[in-house]
Amino acid sequence: MSFVNMKRQYIYLAIGMFLLVVMLFFNNKPTYQCQLLTTEDATYEYLPTIYAITPTYTRLAQKADLTRLSQTLMLVKNFHWIIIEDSEKKTPLVENFLKESTLNYTHLNVKTAIKKMKARGVEQRNIALDWLRGHLNQTEDKRGVVYFMDDDNTYSLKVFDEMRKINKVGTWPVGLAGGIRVETPVVTDGKVSGYNSVWETRRPFPIDMAGFAINATLFLEKPNAMFTRNVKIGYQESEILKYFASSAEDLEPLADNCTKVYVWHTRTQKPFTPHQKKLKISDSHIEV
Ligand SMILES: *[C@@H]1O[C@H](CO)[C@@H](O)[C@H](O)[C@H]1NC(C)=O
Ligand SMILES: *[C@@H]1O[C@H](CO)[C@@H](O)[C@H](O)[C@H]1NC(C)=O
Ligand SMILES: *[C@@H]1O[C@H](CO)[C@@H](O)[C@H](O)[C@H]1NC(C)=O
Ligand SMILES: *[C@@H]1O[C@H](CO)[C@@H](O)[C@H](O)[C@H]1NC(C)=O
Repeated sequence: MSFVNMKRQYIYLAIGMFLLVVMLFFNNKPTYQCQLLTTEDATYEYLPTIYAITPTYTRLAQKADLTRLSQTLMLVKNFHWIIIEDSEKKTPLVENFLKESTLNYTHLNVKTAIKKMKARGVEQRNIALDWLRGHLNQTEDKRGVVYFMDDDNTYSLKVFDEMRKINKVGTWPVGLAGGIRVETPVVTDGKVSGYNSVWETRRPFPIDMAGFAINATLFLEKPNAMFTRNVKIGYQESEILKYFASSAEDLEPLADNCTKVYVWHTRTQKPFTPHQKKLKISDSHIEV
């Protein structure tokens, strides 16, 4: 008896398991596909790509600053980070850092030529704009938003949502900038009518670099728009904005008519390491 019966039992077991697998397969797959389709349908809406341009330079707190910033950026959708080192060659620190990040990035480098430089980031932002023009020229979708980001500021995710609303140039308040609590455009009846700032008020646009973003397509229309060393310190923002706006009214006020702060002009304190030379065992193999 047993041999035939046992064989039969095994066959039943095998058929049972096969049916189970088939059931699981058909049960799961269509639901999974449906879910995918519905989420796609429900959340599909056009999100302009944000091209963020960030100059960076070698210093003790560089990796700490880049880590903090990149982990904010990892939460931003449709985002392209253009990071430009002020150096003759790309450094392994930044190269490896970017490779290990999950970000969409372009890594560039250019050394600031002038020894006694006044403004930082002029050459770096300009080669980023060259890259952007080349990239948009070859891309079918030329839409997007350009934002100039420092590597040590503090950015709320809300500032990225705001800048995707711009038509040409958008602006918003910047906390802890210009020697006051908040440097901000003044808005009257939904239009920028002036600026609440104290430092260098003669600037055509007394706005911090973190306080505006520009429609990327416009950089193709204005091929000469770039930064220059031929202006006083603090005039870089006005220099780039003059290509896209002729007066305050051309700026689109965001962040609830410039009543909300979503970005802060923070500075990282220079690390103080007076005991480093007293170390008995070298730590030079550890990247900080
Ligand atoms: C990466 O950047 C491109 C533009 O260069 C953009 O179209 C794409 O959506 C970005 N991807 C992500 C995951 O942000
Ligand atoms: C865009 O592409 C065209 C054709 O390839 C080229 O002639 C033009 O110089 C490019 N413009 C820019 C800004 O790269
Ligand atoms: C930017 O300007 C172009 C051309 O004027 C327009 O098609 C586009 O919708 C604007 N906005 C963005 C985010 O690119
Ligand atoms: C900005 O102010 C204008 C004019 O008072 C108003 O119509 C508009 O709704 C305001 N926008 C926001 C986002 O609060």
